[in-house]
Amino acid sequence: MESGLDHLTARALLEWQVELGVTDAIGDAPVDRYALPDTAPKAKKPAAAAAPAKPAQVDAAAMAQQAAKSAGSLPELRAAMDAFDLCDLKRGARQLVFADGTPGAPVMIVGEAPGRDEDREGKPFVGRAGQLLDRMLAAIDLDRTQNVYITNVLPWRPPQNRDPKPEEIGMMKPFLDRHIALAKPEVLVVMGNISCQAVLGKRGITRLRGRWDQALGLPVIPMFHPAYLLRQPQMKRQAWADLLELRAKLGAGS
Ligand code: URA
Repeated sequence: MESGLDHLTARALLEWQVELGVTDAIGDAPVDRYALPDTAPKAKKPAAAAAPAKPAQVDAAAMAQQAAKSAGSLPELRAAMDAFDLCDLKRGARQLVFADGTPGAPVMIVGEAPGRDEDREGKPFVGRAGQLLDRMLAAIDLDRTQNVYITNVLPWRPPQNRDPKPEEIGMMKPFLDRHIALAKPEVLVVMGNISCQAVLGKRGITRLRGRWDQALGLPVIPMFHPAYLLRQPQMKRQAWADLLELRAKLGAGS
């Protein structure tokens, strides 16, 4: 085809294209390859033996179990949890919320998971529900600065305060069990369905509340979660009965 270019200009243009990265001359006119019939050869299924190896699955619960077991004190457990990177909740949270109150206290309370205030302060039950909890405890002469120790099933705030997922609870449970073993309370209080499920393996807080159960070699009493009591204040009457039950148990034991 007559291009109308002198050979020097044609050569300069060619060199310019090579400089831009052109390696093959394909054709003069553009081709709409989407409009072409599908003649591409079918990709061969790779033989099973040739499939790339999957990265080894990390058993997060087993890793948590190992990390928890190797902690010989509460500060060591805190450090082990802080270093544990396999729970996605950690990425969305500001910090680890480990515990508050008095280690070695006779009463250990297990809540659900940190909320916004707890995530900000790094301590469990410091928001509105926590303030109600403090008033409930004070009504039976308990106080986190003296005779109560508090933690949660999960140490990191779930995004938008959504319910913890069973796999998150399962993954972090070895840390909770170790936490309870190291804190050595006389009794456990599990607040709300999530902690009932995690500690006792049972749901149905309305049915379970106020009745002593047993887990990890300790007496356990399920109670309504204070956040629930803020939404349903008419349930405070039952919560008061449960607090008296707890008080009676402590009195009987001392
Ligand atoms: N609710 C919980 O269960 N735990 C907290 O720490 C705060 C609110």
